[in-house]
Amino acid sequence: WIATMAGWAGAYLFGSIPTAYLAGRIYGLDIREHGSRSVGATNALRVLGRGPALVVLLVDVLKGVAAIVLVRGLCFQLFNGTLVTLPPALDQHGWTPWAVGIAGLAALLGHSRSIWLRFSGGKSVATGLGVVLAISWPVAMGALAVFGVAIALVRIVSLGSILAALTAILLICSLGQPMPYRLLVVAGGLHIVARHRANIGRLLAGTEPRLGQSPGG
Ligand code: G3P
Repeated sequence: WIATMAGWAGAYLFGSIPTAYLAGRIYGLDIREHGSRSVGATNALRVLGRGPALVVLLVDVLKGVAAIVLVRGLCFQLFNGTLVTLPPALDQHGWTPWAVGIAGLAALLGHSRSIWLRFSGGKSVATGLGVVLAISWPVAMGALAVFGVAIALVRIVSLGSILAALTAILLICSLGQPMPYRLLVVAGGLHIVARHRANIGRLLAGTEPRLGQSPGG
């Protein structure tokens, strides 16, 4: 239990790394005061340019992957020898997917409620992609495809992100994945949609900026 909870804390801390904020600091600005004010790759693209945005995107995706790999690794050790603090039989009861699912949620929460930014942050899209890549790559590919089509057609990242999150929910529920993974993606996907509240308002008002534009400008 202690190892598993340490893994969840680690997943939250991975998610909490405020990549876009740190990138902004390198350029001498606080990204929370520019563009959409979101601490994420899209706003980094808007405010800092392509290079920094790509780095932010990659690191944010890797945070999600790392959170899952960490907790999976801990469970493996828990059940296969060195760190046995749980009866190995528990694995047969499917404990590992639950531990991994909770870790995924912790990473998403870390990104949007970072401990380093007074519990504010980004919209968890890139970190969510990393989490889903690590638990079910076909779901991640399906969501990415929808994102790509949306961007190609309308060039509005928030719309692509929302559609990708909803696609991930549909796919995870229809591909026969374990219940903990389904719950993770449903809760995480809805969390991502909820984080886009302001974007949804702008989308409905027809004022959401396209790639390269700033809200209101
Ligand atoms: O990944 C976040 C994106 O969907 C929206 O970002 O900065 O346009 O609110 P932003």
